[in-house]
Amino acid sequence: MLVVAVVVAVLVVGAASATWNTEKEMAMARSGKALGVATHEPSVDDRARETEQQMTDDERFALIISLIGPAMGLSRDKRIPEDVKNTSAGYTQGISRLGIPALQSSDASMGVTNPGYRPDDKGATAFPASIVVGSSFNPQLAHAGGQAIGREARIRGFNIMLAGGINLVRDVRNGRNFEYYGEDPWHSALFGAEAVNGIQSRHVISTLKHYTLNNNETNRHWLDAIIDPAAHRESDLLAFQIAIERSQPGSIMSGYNKINGEYASGNHQLLNEVLKGAWGYKGYVMSDWGAVPEWDYAVKGLDQESGIQFDVKQWGAEAFTDRLRKAYAEGRFPKERLSDMVRRILRSAYAVGVDMWGPAPAVDMAKHNEIALETARQGIVLLKNEGALPIPADKPLKIGVVGGYAQRGVPTGTGSGAVLPVGGYAGSMPIGGAHGLIGNARNLYLLPSSPLAELKKLLPQAQIDFDGAYTPAESAMLARRVDVVIAFGIRVEGEGFDLPDLSLPWGQDAVIDAVGTSNPNTIVVLETGNPVSMPWRSKVKAVVEAWYPGQAGGTAIAEILTGKVNPSGRLPITFPETLAQNPRPELPGIETPWGTPTTIRYDEGAEVGYRWFAQKKQKPMYPFGYGLSYTAFDYDNFSVTGGETITATFIVTNVGKVAGADVPQVYLTDAPDGPRMRLLGFERVELEPGESKTVTVKADPRLLARFDGKKGLGQWRITAGRYRVALGKSAGELLLTAEAPLTTRLFGK
Ligand code: BGC
Repeated sequence: MLVVAVVVAVLVVGAASATWNTEKEMAMARSGKALGVATHEPSVDDRARETEQQMTDDERFALIISLIGPAMGLSRDKRIPEDVKNTSAGYTQGISRLGIPALQSSDASMGVTNPGYRPDDKGATAFPASIVVGSSFNPQLAHAGGQAIGREARIRGFNIMLAGGINLVRDVRNGRNFEYYGEDPWHSALFGAEAVNGIQSRHVISTLKHYTLNNNETNRHWLDAIIDPAAHRESDLLAFQIAIERSQPGSIMSGYNKINGEYASGNHQLLNEVLKGAWGYKGYVMSDWGAVPEWDYAVKGLDQESGIQFDVKQWGAEAFTDRLRKAYAEGRFPKERLSDMVRRILRSAYAVGVDMWGPAPAVDMAKHNEIALETARQGIVLLKNEGALPIPADKPLKIGVVGGYAQRGVPTGTGSGAVLPVGGYAGSMPIGGAHGLIGNARNLYLLPSSPLAELKKLLPQAQIDFDGAYTPAESAMLARRVDVVIAFGIRVEGEGFDLPDLSLPWGQDAVIDAVGTSNPNTIVVLETGNPVSMPWRSKVKAVVEAWYPGQAGGTAIAEILTGKVNPSGRLPITFPETLAQNPRPELPGIETPWGTPTTIRYDEGAEVGYRWFAQKKQKPMYPFGYGLSYTAFDYDNFSVTGGETITATFIVTNVGKVAGADVPQVYLTDAPDGPRMRLLGFERVELEPGESKTVTVKADPRLLARFDGKKGLGQWRITAGRYRVALGKSAGELLLTAEAPLTTRLFGK
C-alpha cells in the first residue's frame, strides 16, 4: 500500500465556491505525485510502467478490450469466466498475479443500471436525470449523487461507471439530452466534474462521455458532425477540457459519430493531438459500445475497445483482438503504443484506487433516496406562475389531477442510462415504433413515486380526484367541477431516437388545452427531457418543468406545488418558442431510415443555446438560467475588475417573505471584437427573508478568450480592451452591467 508523505487536496467547486477536503484514503489512492505533492512512493505512472513491463502480450491484449455481459439478446461470451455473476456493460479480465482486478463497468450517470444482466439484483437508486442535476445549478448535488452512485457500484463489484455525460445540448430534439447537464460549457463542466469526483472518491473509475459532438441520436453511427475546430474548442471541447482538469476522470468515452469526417474513436486529431497532446490527459480512452470499425483506431488514439460483441454486430468484426494482433505480428502496430494503451488503463486503476478495495462499505439506501429527493427539489423549475402556486394546504379545495400516470409514478428517460429502481417500475408501457435505434423496444417506464399520492399527503384538507387524460372531453368534465386542475404532460425520450418536434405525445396537448379552457386555475407539470411547445400556455396559470425527477420525484413535485419547498431550479437549456428559432429548424436525417449517412453542420460554432439567441437577437419562450421562486431577489453593488480576467462582485438580497434560493448569473456580453455572450459564473445562494449575501465570481479566462489556432491546436487569446459584463437572473434578463479592461495575452493550450 502507498504511504504518502503529504496529502492535502482541496477541490474548489466552481463558482459555487464551496470547498471540501477529499478524504485521506482517496488522496492516498491517487498517490502523492498524482496530486502534485511530495512523496516517497512511486507515482501511479511509475507503477503502471512497472506492472506493464511484467505483463505478457496475451495479458496486454486482454486488457485493451471489454466484453458485454449476457443480456439484451446476447449470450454469454466464453471469455467471461463462469464465476463472474455481476456482469454488465463491460468486463475486462484482471491479472491476479500482478494484483490487477478485473475491470467491470456499468452504466451510469443516474444510478447503477441493470437491463437484464443480473436477475438477482433487486434494483438501485434511480436518481433524477442529469438535466435535473444541471437545473439545480448546485454542483455539490452532482458530487453527492456521484458518491452515492459510486457506493452502489462498488457494492455490486463495478469499478468503472460509464457516467459523466457532458455533451452540450445543441438540439432540443436530441433524445439523450436528459442524460446531459445543459447547453453551456462552463456549467456542464462543473457538473460533469463533480459527478466524476463523487464517483471516483469511492475508488470507482468514472468516464466523461461522449467525446465529442454526439449531440443527436439520429443515425448516430453514420453521423458526421462538421464544426470549425476553433469554435469546437470554445464550446463542446471546452466543457471536456475544464471537466477533465477538475476531476481527472480515469477514462474518456469516445462517441459514435464522426467529427469533421473522422470517427470519434479513431480521431487522431481529437484524441492524440488535443486530448492527450495539448491537454496532457493521462487516463485512457474507451470507445462507446459498437464504435470501432477498424483496428488502426489503436494508432489513432483509442486505448480500449468496449463491448466488442457490439462491434461484431455493427461492423462485422472485433477490432482489437485478432486484427490488431495480426497488425502487431506484422510490425504494423508498434509495441510502444500497445504498452502505452495498457499503461494508461493501469494508471487510472491505480490513480483511482480500484486495486485497493477491501470489503465494500454498506450502502444506506434511505440516505441515497434523500439525495435523489433533494436533487429533484432543487432541479424542478417553475416556469410560469400567475398566482396559482403554491396551492394552499389549509383550504378544503377540490382539485383535479389529470394525466401523466400521476396515480402511478413519474416517467424516466430510456436507453442505457435507465435505472431499475428497488422493487421495480411502477408501470411500463410498450410504445414500439420503427423510429430510431431502439424502435420496437421503446417503453414508457414509471418510477414508483406517485405525485397524486404525495399531493394527497400534503393537502389533507383537499378533495383530490384523478382523471387519466383519456380524452379531452372527459378531462374537461373533471376540470369544470373542481377549483384547481393539475395537469401532467409527459413524454418518453431516450437513447437511439430523436424527437421530430416539440409536441407532447398521445394527444396530451389537446387534453391540457381542454382543461385550461374549462378551468381558469390550471397548473401544468411537465415531465420531459427537453423543451416542449406548450400551445396551451396562455390558457394556464402555472407551468412547472419537473423533467425526469427520479425515484423521489413525486414527493418533490408535491412539495413544490404546495410550497413546502420553494422552487429554485433554473433552466440549463433555452426553451425556444419554435424550432424555427434554432440553428437547424430541420433536423438532418430525421426522416431517413436508421443507418443513413447523415451530416450535421454545426455552423453556429460556439454560439450554442443562449449564445445563439443573443447573437440572433431572438427572444425564446424561456431563456437559459430562467426559473421563478415564491420569493423575490434584488441585486446591487455590482462591480467588476479586469486585468488577467474578470472578477465580479455583487450583493443579492431576498426581498420577499419566504426563504428561498436564487441563482444570480454573470455573463460576458461585449468584447472589444464585438458582442459575445458567455456565462462567466453563477452561484446558488440560499437566503432567509431580508437576508443578503455578497457573491464574487471570478471567470475562467478561457470564457473571455477566443481560441486562436488551427485544427484545434493553438492557444487562448485575450485581446486588450474593455469587456462588458452583466449580472442577470437569466440569459434573457440582465439587470446590472459594468465593464473592465483586460490586458492582452496568449495563454494555455
Ligand atoms: C451508450 C453509452 C453507454 C454504453 C454502454 C452505449 O450505447 O451510448 O452511453 O455507456 O452503451 O451501455
